[in-house]
Amino acid sequence: MGNLTEVVGGGTFGRDLVSVKHNMLDSGLFTDDALADLIDRYPREYFMFDTMIVDGARQVWRHGDPSDLSGKEILEAIKNGKFWMNLRRFDVVARQYDKLVNDAFEELEATTPGLKTSRRSSSLLISSPGARVLYHADIPMICLWHLRGKKRVWIYDAKNKQHLPDESREAIILRETEEKLAYNPEWDKDAIAHDLDPGMAVSWELNAPHRVDNLDGLNVSITTEYFTPEALRSYGVHFTNGYLRRRFGWTPGSTEINGVGALAKLGFAGVAKKLNLHKTRERKLLCDFTLDREQIGRMVDLPAESRWPIQQA
Ligand SMILES: [Fe+2]
Repeated sequence: MGNLTEVVGGGTFGRDLVSVKHNMLDSGLFTDDALADLIDRYPREYFMFDTMIVDGARQVWRHGDPSDLSGKEILEAIKNGKFWMNLRRFDVVARQYDKLVNDAFEELEATTPGLKTSRRSSSLLISSPGARVLYHADIPMICLWHLRGKKRVWIYDAKNKQHLPDESREAIILRETEEKLAYNPEWDKDAIAHDLDPGMAVSWELNAPHRVDNLDGLNVSITTEYFTPEALRSYGVHFTNGYLRRRFGWTPGSTEINGVGALAKLGFAGVAKKLNLHKTRERKLLCDFTLDREQIGRMVDLPAESRWPIQQA
């Protein structure tokens, strides 16, 4: 360990928008050969293979299956097509990759006064040169470790209630909306366009809305979800506000994460989650395309009667 990371710009890691230099590429874990090998041994229930259709402001994700293509061919398909592969749960499937991220986080904690992170969960994102992810917000804190290609992350102000109304934040936390948000291109003028090159990482303010444009080449990055004690408190407060608003028609007055009111809300959120008071709707993921064996990168649509549910662990 040592010298894995260096904060090079922005505020405090774990709280603000921060730019970090990293040397994860030195591990050799992200070459074409290493990635092909990783894909070959990834169990089906731990990855998603998607494509995305942008229809005006609407983004439709379609879930697919690379069928019996090899890791090498799948990488080729991503380079030639419009795909987005998400290899989840390093902690279960890819221990070497998980260790790399955990070492980096431990180093950040050692060098950032007061930083304490928990519930870290990492995935590898491999996406096509022109792929995009539309405007959304995530529940935990995010650190995006960029490894290959070039991408632009547009980051919006988490405190701007027009960009992120309380009700939308609650809906995301209560898992009603799958993290999607209303978006207006006008807001771009107030956003930060943060370009990522290999060897750089970025983390931003909790729940800050963002969108991503891949600018060049096959894009490979690790996304790590994590919580800090403040992020956990904020989660509890918004969870309770959202629950009370929906269950009792109550309009929450405060999103304050400190003080007696906040403590009561945190206690409630803990109990509500344990009792499963707010039942989340289980998502059904249907596989509706596969990949062409002959023409690598071409999608094959599955007719309605041949679609099958993708099981995720
Ligand atoms: Fe995100």
